[in-house]
Amino acid sequence: TPYTNMFRRPPVLMPYDEGVDGEGPFQKYRLTQKTGPASIVPGLVTTIAGYNGIFPGPTIRVPRGTRTEVRIKNSLTLNRINGKPFSTVTHLHGSASLPQYDGYANDHTHPGHCKTYRYPNWQPARTLWYHDHNHRTTAANAYSGLAAQYHLTDEYEAAQLPQDQYDVPIVVSDIAFNADGSVAFDDEDNAGLMGDIILVNGVPWPKMRVKPRVYRFRILVASISRSYRWRLSTGDPFYVVATDGGMTPKVAEVASFRHSPAERYEVLIDFRKYKVGQKIELRNLSNKNNEDFQNTDKVMQFEVVADSGAPDTYQIPKTLDAGPVPWANRGAHDVMKLKPEMATARRTVRVERKHGLWTVNGETWDDVEKSGFKRVLGNPKPYDVEIWDLVNESGGWFHPVHIHLIDGMVLSRNNTPGNKPYAWENGPKDVFYLGENETASVLMQFTTGDGNAGGRYMLHCHNLIHEDSDMMIQFAVGDPGA
Ligand code: C2O
Ligand code: CU
Repeated sequence: TPYTNMFRRPPVLMPYDEGVDGEGPFQKYRLTQKTGPASIVPGLVTTIAGYNGIFPGPTIRVPRGTRTEVRIKNSLTLNRINGKPFSTVTHLHGSASLPQYDGYANDHTHPGHCKTYRYPNWQPARTLWYHDHNHRTTAANAYSGLAAQYHLTDEYEAAQLPQDQYDVPIVVSDIAFNADGSVAFDDEDNAGLMGDIILVNGVPWPKMRVKPRVYRFRILVASISRSYRWRLSTGDPFYVVATDGGMTPKVAEVASFRHSPAERYEVLIDFRKYKVGQKIELRNLSNKNNEDFQNTDKVMQFEVVADSGAPDTYQIPKTLDAGPVPWANRGAHDVMKLKPEMATARRTVRVERKHGLWTVNGETWDDVEKSGFKRVLGNPKPYDVEIWDLVNESGGWFHPVHIHLIDGMVLSRNNTPGNKPYAWENGPKDVFYLGENETASVLMQFTTGDGNAGGRYMLHCHNLIHEDSDMMIQFAVGDPGA
């Protein structure tokens, strides 16, 4: 039953070591991938596989400029969803990581082994997430519970947006159960997985007590295939303050917006206008190419409670300042200030279903493997600027296209008034929602940062069922690597 369970936040992970060395400040973390109990359906214990045995995994919060080292131990054995050995590889989605730490799909860590990942964290403040990326079992592994948020914080974000208890991580996913109480993994002929239960931070349709203040929600859709179209039951607006790659130059006020798997939107909701005791629902309107069930139009409920503190005088900003551009000395630009004239190449990325396969430009990850991992879409140099036209010609499907490494700006779309980007996507992006027959032209710079000579990075559909079968290719930056 919706709105009977209380909302909860994932715990924040503490570093086991931190300090300053010759390269600057660092933090070290440990995570263990293991199974754990979860209660999702009343009276039933579901075994999940998560980081530290919980779903979502613990949130990692890092100040910009502090390097992190995350040692991940794989203490899993078999994945009960597909009966396969539970090999894993972790991707920090939204990070300009070195290629060897980027979660390359064929870089498996087998059960019983460990890998230490290093992250640079020089990028502007943003909501990232870490999740599994193991080739051909990404969907089963992520659906088992291997997903969590990672926040990069900085003084610009802190000065302009709500903090602490008013800064709320929201991981939305959907799940389905078989009649016998086991988790159902029914991918409908490789098309997608649509659960009938909506989870927020692992809790079905929770209710959350809020004070009459302005809250910031960091919304991540961690669903395997489902997309959402948010709306408040009051019809009141969301103020979009950040997209995948951090703060938007202008705050967009929207009554609803669509949100595909892996996109992150940070929104402000102003609860000051409501009375104590009032209940406001976060709803999900229908999107094309989803499968709706009885309660998939509901997400969570807010109940306004009395606030004993001083009234909240926060003013919702109209514009935001994300701070200085990293690596400007090497020719890097603020992604939202890139100009199409700076582009030195234009490429097409066409996603389609071909001969029963999900393909990108008619190719799959299988073709990449068969080439000995040599085959690439392109090989820009570090700091090159390019325009990529993302084209969805597969009528009947939407595809969230994710490009690793980069932050991109949507220049234009083929299906909106004036071909403008949607109001809510005018910020740095790394996942581009392509609805049926939609096209997005994206301007991006291959900003690699210090110590990164380049290498190979993946590009894929973030409907993880599509990614696994086999809608993924790669590009190389600089030295394509061995
Ligand atoms: Cu969120 Cu290549 O993944
Ligand atoms: Cu897809």
